[in-house]
Amino acid sequence: MKIRAAVLEEFGAPLVVQEVELAGPQAGEVLVRLHACGVCHTDMYTASGVDPSGYAPTVLGHEGAGVVEAIGEGVTSLRVGDHVVTLFSPQCRECVHCRSDKTNICLAIRDQQGKGHLPDGTTRLSRDGEPIRHFMGTSTFAEATVMPEIALAKINPEAPLDRACLFACGLSTGLGAAMNTAKVEAGSFCVVFGAGMVGLGAVAGARLMGAERIVCVDLSADRLALAKGQGATDVMVGGPDAVAQLLEMTDGFGADYTFEATGNVKVMAQAVEAARMGWGLCTVTGVAGKGETLDVLPRWLITGRRIAGSSFGGVKGRDQVPQLVQRYLDGDIDVDAFLSHSITLDEVNKGFDLMHDQDGIRSVIAF
Ligand SMILES: NC(=O)c1ccc[n+]([C@@H]2O[C@H](COP(=O)([O-])OP(=O)(O)OC[C@H]3O[C@@H](n4cnc5c(N)ncnc54)[C@H](O)[C@@H]3O)[C@@H](O)[C@H]2O)c1
Ligand SMILES: [Zn+2]
Ligand SMILES: [Zn+2]
Repeated sequence: MKIRAAVLEEFGAPLVVQEVELAGPQAGEVLVRLHACGVCHTDMYTASGVDPSGYAPTVLGHEGAGVVEAIGEGVTSLRVGDHVVTLFSPQCRECVHCRSDKTNICLAIRDQQGKGHLPDGTTRLSRDGEPIRHFMGTSTFAEATVMPEIALAKINPEAPLDRACLFACGLSTGLGAAMNTAKVEAGSFCVVFGAGMVGLGAVAGARLMGAERIVCVDLSADRLALAKGQGATDVMVGGPDAVAQLLEMTDGFGADYTFEATGNVKVMAQAVEAARMGWGLCTVTGVAGKGETLDVLPRWLITGRRIAGSSFGGVKGRDQVPQLVQRYLDGDIDVDAFLSHSITLDEVNKGFDLMHDQDGIRSVIAF
């Protein structure tokens, strides 16, 4: 079938919305008609050419939500008409990682996904007979996509898809960082560095876990106001003095849990230093620039602080994304506050501009 899609033709140049060919689903695959897709930093990062693992041409997009239109042979967990959220982090439920409760990093299709292929090593996307590679296994800047069954989370059809799509990446990452990775204890003192989609999700996650104090640190007053709406009890303007101020708020000890959601390695170091001596846990979610390293004095660790990394918030997508969407429907998570701009597929480059200007939290493409 012919679909319209936003193609990254050349690094550093705007995406080109055009018609491409999408083949039907093969065994274990599903054709999804997209209804909504968020525009995320990772798309912009890849489009810029800075990502060393990036490739072109490809159809970008990974924060999709839509409806199953057809299923391939052997697909048992989804039916035509199901509402789904796309997962760049799949869950096969069979590999050694999926069978462990210690990680959400599924091993089943990693290699092929990284190369831009579906699990059988080919693509469903093409143009004039030439294959076009998939991106993050999702390629959701498109009217429709074909994805592996193991990379789709079936959600409650009552959830509006323009809200549900935010659970495909940043929001689940932040929520999961607090709920899965850190497992924040009730009554604890939390600090979240960064109030973008991920940091605000971590604020909401800490609140849902019953944290008593949640301090959110950011450079933007608008974003700190949003953090209050998600449950931050205190907000602070970031900078070199942030750690000293946080230590002052905690009798010199530091916080039970800190979260880094900026991608800045200096802020990551601050998040380690602001974690409590004895048991403070720093959870890092930000993606640092190419070649950057985290500079931490070993003394910070020997005296009891720990550092954890969190990919997609430790969320096992097929099991937990539906649960998080349900908590949204139950009124526990305010998703509306994150949806800043509704745009069309043709306006996808405007979505990048809005993100670059920090105008709102998320632009969502409506198809
Ligand atoms: N681990 C994962 O699976 C995963 C998933 C999605 C995104 N990410 C990464 O998480 C990070 C955050 O993503 P986002 O979408 O929320 O980004 P964002 O750019 O919207 O938010 C980052 C925030 O950090 C703030 N900030 C910058 N410097 C600061 C400082 N010195 N002190 C305090 N705050 C500061 C900015 O003002 C901004 O509000 C990015 O690095 C992104 O690539 C990781
Ligand atoms: Zn994303
Ligand atoms: Zn797996």
